[in-house]
Amino acid sequence: VSDDIRNLLRALAEQVNAQLPSALQRLGGPERLREAMAYTLLAPGKRLRPALVMLAAQAAGGEHSAARSAAVAVEMVHTYSLIHDDLPAMDDDDLRRGRPTCHRQFDEATAILAGDALLTGAFQILAEDYPPKTASLCCLELARGAGSGGMVGGQADDLAWERQRGPGAPATVADLEQVHSRKTGALFRACVRLGAIVVQGEQTGDSLSRSLSALDRFGRFFGLAFQITDDLLDVEGDAESIGKGVRKDAARGKLTYPGLIGADQSRKKAGEAIQTAMQAARELGMNGEPLVALAGYLLERRQ
Ligand code: IPE
Ligand code: IPE
Ligand code: MG
Ligand code: MG
Ligand code: MG
Repeated sequence: VSDDIRNLLRALAEQVNAQLPSALQRLGGPERLREAMAYTLLAPGKRLRPALVMLAAQAAGGEHSAARSAAVAVEMVHTYSLIHDDLPAMDDDDLRRGRPTCHRQFDEATAILAGDALLTGAFQILAEDYPPKTASLCCLELARGAGSGGMVGGQADDLAWERQRGPGAPATVADLEQVHSRKTGALFRACVRLGAIVVQGEQTGDSLSRSLSALDRFGRFFGLAFQITDDLLDVEGDAESIGKGVRKDAARGKLTYPGLIGADQSRKKAGEAIQTAMQAARELGMNGEPLVALAGYLLERRQ
């Protein structure tokens, strides 16, 4: 199973990688800004979110190709979030996707602007590439997942907990689940919903809402499990294979699963979230099988 899913992920990553340079080209802009955008966007990321967009399109009964532009848009938003996440005012990291972080390679202002441009560019791609009704539904979905009620809100929570660390601010697993669901779960949820929307297009009604509700649950729990495994990799992984610094979370006083409940309990929580995600994907029938397999692969990931 693992080998199949690895091959599938590689093939989907190739599809999205083939689209990224021309999408960037279309956004235009001054040379140094474009270089900074390309520097982190084209660096070797796993392209997991784009893969989810395409696999969700398949689960909703469509073709991967229908979801390509949505996949590109999501990768742009994700990459912006990484560039900003690494800034000195946030996690202050030096290594990303196996390279110096964007602000290290260029400068802080350029990294901030490269992030801004990738974020806005994502909405341009959606608006240019889909018919108006589909485009507006996609923009809505992505804005909700990425904005203050989703990822940005989760990043704000993440930093707030970091700054309140120590006695007087005892966190609970429920607090942590909320941080992770927002900062990571919300964008994963948007990914799978986008996949369904580009396939169903102008349609509404029962079949769309049935697949949306299963995909929604899949995305939320997959995202939660993904962030738990990210926290575990910070503790147990090596910088070489994950392409970013390790042992940073505890040093910064981050609220993380292994920090709060230990590695074993964290693996258990990730396992539970994965089971819930798998169950949701099974409701999608045959077309949902790759999503089931992808969820199963999460616990074994080493990068
Ligand atoms: C890192 O995401 C940020 C988190 C939400 C944990 P990925 O691990 O998907 O990063 P890339 O895209 O492969 O670099
Ligand atoms: C980042 O979480 C989540 C984002 C929204 C970018 P982390 O701060 O743990 O991600 P890494 O470990 O730096 O990739
Ligand atoms: Mg962070
Ligand atoms: Mg970080
Ligand atoms: Mg992390």
